[in-house]
Amino acid sequence: MDIDLLVVGSGFFGLTIAERAASAGRKVTVIDRRNHIGGNAYSEKEPETGIEVHRYGAHLFHTSNESVWEYVNRFTKFTNYVHRVYSTHNGQVFALPVNLHTINQFFGAAFTPDQARALVKEQAGEFDVATAQNFYEKGVALVGRPLFEAFFAHYTAKQWQTSPEQLSGDIVSRLPVRYNYDNRYFNDTYEGLPKDGYTAWLERMADHPNITVSLGTDFFDESQPLHQGAVVGQLPVVYTGPVDRYFDFTEGFLSWRTLDFEQEILPVGDFQGTPVMNYPDADVPFTRIHEFKHFHPERKDIFSGDKTVIMREFSRFAERDDEPYYPVNTSADRVGLLAYRDLAKGEKDVFFGGRLGTYQYLDMHMAIGSALSMWNNQLS
Ligand code: FDA
Repeated sequence: MDIDLLVVGSGFFGLTIAERAASAGRKVTVIDRRNHIGGNAYSEKEPETGIEVHRYGAHLFHTSNESVWEYVNRFTKFTNYVHRVYSTHNGQVFALPVNLHTINQFFGAAFTPDQARALVKEQAGEFDVATAQNFYEKGVALVGRPLFEAFFAHYTAKQWQTSPEQLSGDIVSRLPVRYNYDNRYFNDTYEGLPKDGYTAWLERMADHPNITVSLGTDFFDESQPLHQGAVVGQLPVVYTGPVDRYFDFTEGFLSWRTLDFEQEILPVGDFQGTPVMNYPDADVPFTRIHEFKHFHPERKDIFSGDKTVIMREFSRFAERDDEPYYPVNTSADRVGLLAYRDLAKGEKDVFFGGRLGTYQYLDMHMAIGSALSMWNNQLS
């Protein structure tokens, strides 16, 4: 085999490793079982409207990590997009994260920061964070019952398909409330969207004479030349698929939440006037609606059109064949993960990385940052 390194998975983690290795002169093959590159960050033009759609959910790039920012700018320019989210509750639209504007609108008041802080503190006194028995009590103890019920309780219940009283308080340590009028969603130093789309960025990372990409190729498919049994122990492997699948689920199935997306093309120029609208009320079955054209207001030709693409997002527990999106992380999952980590240590020259390989939610900048660390500290 004329290969120095096999990378399983062409998401940001796998492509960062592949690009670094190729630039250092190694011959790399990247395989992915999907028929496109890029993992969950993949985006494509919706053919009827030309609007860029993020196939696996909206992806917003943001980071405060200087070396990640320097690295990603080698492959793409970024727009000056700044993410803001709104929320429709009881027939009114509020700004998120909950901030002084949200609080004043919600209570029909003109509180100063100190007055709002005092009100929330008084309302939160109903339960104690230290002794709260479940997510409901903890949420009330953090922000008070009125704000918690309006913006967090049912929204989280829809995400987990479980009532707030039955959810563990462990799923939350704090709830975002700001006592000023800042409604910028992220706090990071750098933020923006790739000027010509995610897929162009991802393809540029793979565009190197030392990199071969093989799509539609599953690492566990024994009919493929580069399958698990044929390569492990023969050449170094960076594996970014699910860690439990690698070990054939011997230590149990690690649980995930998944999302269902309902995409629709509407015959209107502008449906909601903003990229993301949350729906925190119990009587609406979805959690949010994305309207993709608003991610790129600079694409004037698309913006002036009389059609738009929206996507409703529904959340539920993943079955074994669903796309794994967010780790559930129950105590049984944590026990299973430790067992898999022990098994992983015994695999000669196999490096587990990325969100699936480590059973961790990672933002894109974190996946890229951890891949750069793996390259610098273990592989180079
Ligand atoms: P990723 O999942 O992207 O790639 C893994 C690849 O491995 C996949 O392509 C898969 O097909 C492949 N694979 C798995 N098993 C295989 C096998 N047996 N054989 C071959 N290939 C196999 N981040 C952020 O910064 N801002 C954001 O706004 C969002 N938004 C967001 C929304 C949603 C709904 C989700 C679920 C996630 C986000 N993210 C995000 C996180 C972002 O998606 C994440 O950081 C990257 O996908 C991580 O890249 P990885 O390479 O680790 O995994």
